[in-house]
Amino acid sequence: MKVVDISDLRSHTGEEVTIRGWLRRKRSSGKIQFLFLRDGSGFVQAIVERSSVSDSVFQNANNLKMESSVVVNGVVKVEERAPGGVELLVTDIEVVQIPEKDFPINKPDHSIDFLMDNRHLWLRTQRQTHILKIRHEIIKAVREFYNDRDFILVDTPIFTGSIGESAGNTFEIDYFDYGKAYLAQTGQLYLEAAAMALGKVYNLGPTFRAEKSKTRRHLIEFWMNEAEVAYYRHEDNIKLQEDLVSYIVHKTLERAGDDILAIGRDIDKLKKIETPFPRMTYDEAIKLLQKKGFTITWGDDIGADEETAVASEFDKPVVVEKYPKMMKAFYMQPDPERPEVVLCDDMLAPEGYGEIIGASERIYERELLIDRIKEYGLDVSSYDWYLELRDYGTVPHSGFGMGIERVVAWIAGLEHIREAIPFARTLYRIHP
Ligand code: 4AD
Ligand code: MG
Repeated sequence: MKVVDISDLRSHTGEEVTIRGWLRRKRSSGKIQFLFLRDGSGFVQAIVERSSVSDSVFQNANNLKMESSVVVNGVVKVEERAPGGVELLVTDIEVVQIPEKDFPINKPDHSIDFLMDNRHLWLRTQRQTHILKIRHEIIKAVREFYNDRDFILVDTPIFTGSIGESAGNTFEIDYFDYGKAYLAQTGQLYLEAAAMALGKVYNLGPTFRAEKSKTRRHLIEFWMNEAEVAYYRHEDNIKLQEDLVSYIVHKTLERAGDDILAIGRDIDKLKKIETPFPRMTYDEAIKLLQKKGFTITWGDDIGADEETAVASEFDKPVVVEKYPKMMKAFYMQPDPERPEVVLCDDMLAPEGYGEIIGASERIYERELLIDRIKEYGLDVSSYDWYLELRDYGTVPHSGFGMGIERVVAWIAGLEHIREAIPFARTLYRIHP
């Protein structure tokens, strides 16, 4: 018999087929048992009628517990009210395994610690499979966006000898005879080298930050997509970010709209995300925050609460640009008209999801870059190769990094970033 994915059942209406999966839950009314089955591709209700199957098949169905693994034969029947529009009229059931213990995740109100301890099993539940699919479509859209625009994928290293962002939150490791090395906080410095070879480049990979603060927006290990383009200036950079974010939102709505709806996210808010996005300078953001009653002055960091307050003014992501240079990383190009600020931008998602993109034009003159590396207390000798990029045909260039989990949390409407990644690494958790 033909093995079919549950998501494909509809195209086999009237046929007898095989599905292979797990029992999610079960309901019985004496002569009929309703098995709610899943196989990863979708969910379907399978109906076992005492009058149309053998005693042993009916008994098999009766013995099933939550998360039993089963191979089920049945005839596909249209049922518009059912999820997916079909039901399966069971003809045979092969039991692969019936668990000896009750599946631990069986209530709507488990504590978050319990769920995270059982993340390896929690992943099987309906909401989590929807979120994983949304993440999958977001990452697919990211890759497509760059590939369609002839960017070249350049994979950047995880082990690095040069601190990419700031010394505050690095993971240090012993690297053989070399001494100290770090887990990458960013692949940016390497993308800058690659942009001088290939013009338009991007990466997508894990990054690591020993964030000591426990918030709903921070992970210790998170995935970042970065882009870097030779000859791009601040304005080109912002345009690219807007196009990327708008592309991701619309492709994800198109391909995972059902998953987004299924977990209760308000989709109308996402439909409105069109370019251009609203813009303001850091100076304007400070004024706005003061007007809203925050005690904040020029030069202060814009923290999570402040970000939320600024973003709540808009129903699209907002681009905040030109921050004071001492608040930002060493490599950012000063604004020629106002050297106390840099040609950078942060993109803040609406609805309180925080910063999804950090971006800037890069310093392309050797001497200025050396000054800045020293100002930041970083070891100039570990940047010899990075400085050398400025010796051979140096050009203005710009780029940015986008946090994948922040984008997933926003698009899926998640309260906490831990659900946006299959196995979250947070301050107090590395298990499972
Ligand atoms: O703003 P960040 O620190 O920028 C960089 O690392 C640049 N080197 C990128 C570049 O220009 N190539 O980080 C980029 C994004 C943030 O906007 C945020 O979305 C995400 O990465 N991010 C985190 N996401 C989850 N957990 C954390 N601890 C994060 N830290 C940053
Ligand atoms: Mg940032």
